[in-house]
Amino acid sequence: MITEEKYTLPNGIDIPKLGLGTWLISNDIAGQAVKDAVKIGYRHIDTAQAYSNESGVGEGIRACGVKRENLFVTTKLAAEIKSYKEAVAAIDMSLKTMGFDYIDMMLIHSPQPWAKFGEKERFFEGNRDAWRALEEAYQAGKLRAIGLSNFQKPDIDNILASCSVTPMANQILAHVSNTPKALIQYSQEKGMLVEAYSPVGHGELLKNEELAEMAKKYGVSVPRLCIRYTLQLDLLPLPKTANPDHMKDNADVNFAISEEDMELLKNIERIKDYGESSVFPVYR
Ligand SMILES: NC(=O)c1ccc[n+]([C@@H]2O[C@H](COP(=O)([O-])OP(=O)(O)OC[C@H]3O[C@@H](n4cnc5c(N)ncnc54)[C@H](OP(=O)(O)O)[C@@H]3O)[C@@H](O)[C@H]2O)c1
Repeated sequence: MITEEKYTLPNGIDIPKLGLGTWLISNDIAGQAVKDAVKIGYRHIDTAQAYSNESGVGEGIRACGVKRENLFVTTKLAAEIKSYKEAVAAIDMSLKTMGFDYIDMMLIHSPQPWAKFGEKERFFEGNRDAWRALEEAYQAGKLRAIGLSNFQKPDIDNILASCSVTPMANQILAHVSNTPKALIQYSQEKGMLVEAYSPVGHGELLKNEELAEMAKKYGVSVPRLCIRYTLQLDLLPLPKTANPDHMKDNADVNFAISEEDMELLKNIERIKDYGESSVFPVYR
């Protein structure tokens, strides 16, 4: 089962290869979603300060019946926080909100505040300051691993130029039809594990007929095909669902996509818009 497999982060810490995404899962049902996922075998949950469900996730982790040390929880420092002082306070707030002594991994959610996402300004100084706060929390044992999200090459270089702890992961938009090869390769060359967010294209890939055809050929669902695709690229997929049937489906990826089909999937027509979700900065 994929839920039992792990990648190893550069600092030697193991991270389960499949994570449950929780964006848009409200706080009141997040605990149940975590408990259901853990029951199915998931050991890795992805949340963020911005998702407003850290307390629900924390409750689910405490109530799920599996020991804390056998679970891996990632959260993310809000994209708007670009000062050392605010970052220190926000890290402590996540620990308190989740009710944890430590968090397994914390990422800077985005190099740019959401209101400035995709613009020219790169907030280099603010990201170095936020990173310093993560480094100190890491050294203090509050965070077992630290990393980045949505960081492009110049943003990564900015951190690498001044850090004392190098980033261990970069969580980026990566799915069938939108696989940023150069960024993946660069992040991996710099020692980071690359996590694939929106591995099912935020649900939009479910509408693609070409994909449906290929999934049929393998006798799997479209989400399973999409998740398997990211795993074959050595990425860590974070499919989101609060539906236990979908959780089970997404963990059933013990099949192989041929090299030829991997190429087809890489080049399949790109999602043009993400429907109602196109308003979110990450899809603009
Ligand atoms: N770092 C960042 O900036 C960032 C940005 C976006 C996302 N993320 C992370 O990545 C996670 C996943 O991305 P995402 O939430 O955008 O979307 P996603 O996982 O690509 O897609 C989720 C959609 O696919 C559906 N789905 C999932 N499994 C299914 C299945 N087996 N059968 C049918 N439908 C299925 C879900 O429906 P149901 O809910 O009905 O199951 C939902 O509509 C997020 O939750 C978050 O943790 C991070």
